[in-house]
Amino acid sequence: MNERLYETLMERAKEARKAAYCPYSGFAVGAALLCKDGTVYTGCNIEVAALTGNCAERTAIFKAVADGRREFAAIAVAGGPKGQEPDALCAPCGVCRQVMREFCGPDFEILMTDGHTVHTATLAGLLPMAFGPDNLEGGG
Ligand code: THU
Repeated sequence: MNERLYETLMERAKEARKAAYCPYSGFAVGAALLCKDGTVYTGCNIEVAALTGNCAERTAIFKAVADGRREFAAIAVAGGPKGQEPDALCAPCGVCRQVMREFCGPDFEILMTDGHTVHTATLAGLLPMAFGPDNLEGGG
């Protein structure tokens, strides 16, 4: 992926962030997931009083999977206090990394912004020695 695509995907994540429902944390997150066929799915965090909410990344991934897509190239994530522009990297939580591991390869790209620059990481870098679907191959 080139710089221009990174920026475009990050803009979609920032836009998606506007829909964040985060009355408990006040921390709004948006995500934009790029499928290998070029389709983009967006998501935001959705909190629940009983603490069973969903992160922006999983919202985007679950939307895509529910729509029949399972091949993903990259995800952009933008997060920070609601009503302010993000100024620090928002790295995916452990649960989201594990969900990425379910559907994405080691080269899957994770884009994060500090407000100026888009930083990139790979899934293999963020979740080394992961347990994944291949561990259960041939099982029960
Ligand atoms: N959150 C995300 O949506 N994505 C992340 O990468 C980190 C955290 C959400 C979960 C919760 O709604 C709020 O941010 C504060 O943790």
